Amino acid sequence: MIRLAIIGAGLMGEDHAKIVAEDLPGATLQVVCDMSGERAAMVAERYGAESVATDAEATIRRDDVDAVVIASPDFTHAPLTMACIAAGKRVLCEKPLSQSPAECEAVMKAEQAAGARFVMLGFMRRYDQSYVEMRRALVEGKIGRPLMMHNFHRNVETPATDFTGAMAITNSAPHEFDVVRHVLGTEFISVTAHQPRRSDDRVAPVVMVLETGDGQLVTIEINNNADYGYDVRAELVGEAGSIAMNNVAYTRTDMKLAASTSYDADWRGRYHEAYVRQNRDFLRFAETGHFPEIASDSWDGYCATVVAEAGAAALSAGRKQPVTMMDKPEFYQGHKGVAA
Ligand SMILES: NC(=O)c1ccc[n+]([C@@H]2O[C@H](COP(=O)([O-])OP(=O)(O)OC[C@H]3O[C@@H](n4cnc5c(N)ncnc54)[C@H](O)[C@@H]3O)[C@@H](O)[C@H]2O)c1
Repeated sequence: MIRLAIIGAGLMGEDHAKIVAEDLPGATLQVVCDMSGERAAMVAERYGAESVATDAEATIRRDDVDAVVIASPDFTHAPLTMACIAAGKRVLCEKPLSQSPAECEAVMKAEQAAGARFVMLGFMRRYDQSYVEMRRALVEGKIGRPLMMHNFHRNVETPATDFTGAMAITNSAPHEFDVVRHVLGTEFISVTAHQPRRSDDRVAPVVMVLETGDGQLVTIEINNNADYGYDVRAELVGEAGSIAMNNVAYTRTDMKLAASTSYDADWRGRYHEAYVRQNRDFLRFAETGHFPEIASDSWDGYCATVVAEAGAAALSAGRKQPVTMMDKPEFYQGHKGVAA
């Protein structure tokens, strides 16, 4: 039985606690840690955790904790991930690894110095069945050589009033950056970013066009104020065919000469299955030390952050920016694969 600690018991941390309690046979919820003791106690009580804590670093070091899920705010991810590596505990860290490429490099260095894989990143889209099928089609050569991938990421409204176009690129788009790299199996080499004008003061959509090292074009629309619902779409276009993601809805209502399906208000329902699959893979990783075939690692976290930084620079400069990455360390080679 793997004894898990969850650090950060907000929206995502509570979701992870629920998955551990309901969908992860083989794991126990040992500690729920949040800097708000009240919040930690509430989530611990709801999902039957053994204990609660408010100090993240001390929680990571506890003898009765085998592995850690980090779901606290972005700026805590890199330092807490490094604390997990130092304590010899495998960690599932929510995205992003850091907003700074230099900090991502520091995590990679610490992991390489430890000489083993410790870090899995919460880019769970890789586990969503639609992307699994797109990647499998490419690997099996079904739609020929990939030419383009179009992506739409729409939220009901911005999480904060001071949300900006740059934040759409650095906070929302990294899921697309990661899953497109994963599906296409290549790296981005340049990015341009554009915005239409809205009639009010809410942040307008951002549209990016990215080139890959293999000569593909990728479009990513991030519309954080789409108003109508949470909606993620993608279409992968190959030379011999194309694969589009369907809207996931279990029912359709037929009424008054019209048919309708509904949208979720946020990502949690849409990606529930992906989170469960991801967390099961993390549990196997914690048990065996074998890094899961399709999971995102520290290198992938670094890449997403480098692309995000170049995208934000492209938006502010109004021109194409190169995406410049370090060479991939030997340590991170060779774990790409297709989910069963
Ligand atoms: N994978 C995904 O799809 C996805 C979706 C949403 C959010 N996220 C990521 O999850 C993380 C958390 O997001 P959220 O929406 O749950 O935020 P949130 O604000 O709802 O929750 C964060 C919690 O962390 C606690 N906290 C802050 N600093 C802490 C510390 N040092 N130690 C312990 N607890 C601390 C806060 O008290 C809060 O309860 C973010 O990094 C976000 O990017 C990922």
